[in-house]
Amino acid sequence: MRIPFVAGNWKMNKTVAEARELVSTMGAGLKAVKGVEKVICPPYVSLLAVANLLGGTDIGLGAQNMHWEEKGAFTGEVAPAMVKELCKYVILGHSERRQYFGETDETVNKRVLAAQKHAIIPIVCVGETLDENKSGQTAEVVRRQTLGALQGVDADFAPSLVIAYEPVWAIGTGLASSGDNAQHVHGQVIRPVLVELFGPETAEKIRILYGGSVTGANAAEFFSQPDVDGALVGGASLKDDFVAIAQAAAA
Ligand code: 13P
Repeated sequence: MRIPFVAGNWKMNKTVAEARELVSTMGAGLKAVKGVEKVICPPYVSLLAVANLLGGTDIGLGAQNMHWEEKGAFTGEVAPAMVKELCKYVILGHSERRQYFGETDETVNKRVLAAQKHAIIPIVCVGETLDENKSGQTAEVVRRQTLGALQGVDADFAPSLVIAYEPVWAIGTGLASSGDNAQHVHGQVIRPVLVELFGPETAEKIRILYGGSVTGANAAEFFSQPDVDGALVGGASLKDDFVAIAQAAAA
């Protein structure tokens, strides 16, 4: 059985002071939710402050991206060892990184391999754009992105992978996918790729999250699907609604 996984991607929101405040307000509610892996991913500058607040709790910390090089002249970037010191998780290949910062399947793969090397659990994002969806390319795009991101991942690291299916058209739009569509992509596209890469037994262990306009009100529809193992939450993770989503994952 896969343990449900709920992660909050704060994106470029909250100052350090605001991050502390938000963790303080929702921390008790989140801690009370049992049987769910709960993760918060604030901006880099708040990681240390949030790490200090989460110490000794069962709430995990994640970064929103990471470079693949060990160190050196890469102004503005953050290295795997720096992430590892504070975080158990890292979001990689988010569609906003692909769309605005030129990330490709190849650079996402380099980051995933760097996460593997440093034993950081990657939350690998895939998902089609509205145009790709409308022209019937969803399966092809999601398959290509998943295969591309996971090239060279070892079978013994694979069970700790987390994949997030985030259709770009559903992100921040309030137009969530249906539960049925998420189940279809998870069960008929992503899981079969994982079977191809790692074999059926390992593929069954890998969590596949849905992301895109998840709220406390619609979360149960997703979590009732057999291949939806949790959620990657944007906007609603900045509010108490995130606790309601975690509660829905526990139910
Ligand atoms: P929203 O929940 O705001 O749609 O964002 C989803 C997302 O991109 C999480 O990574």
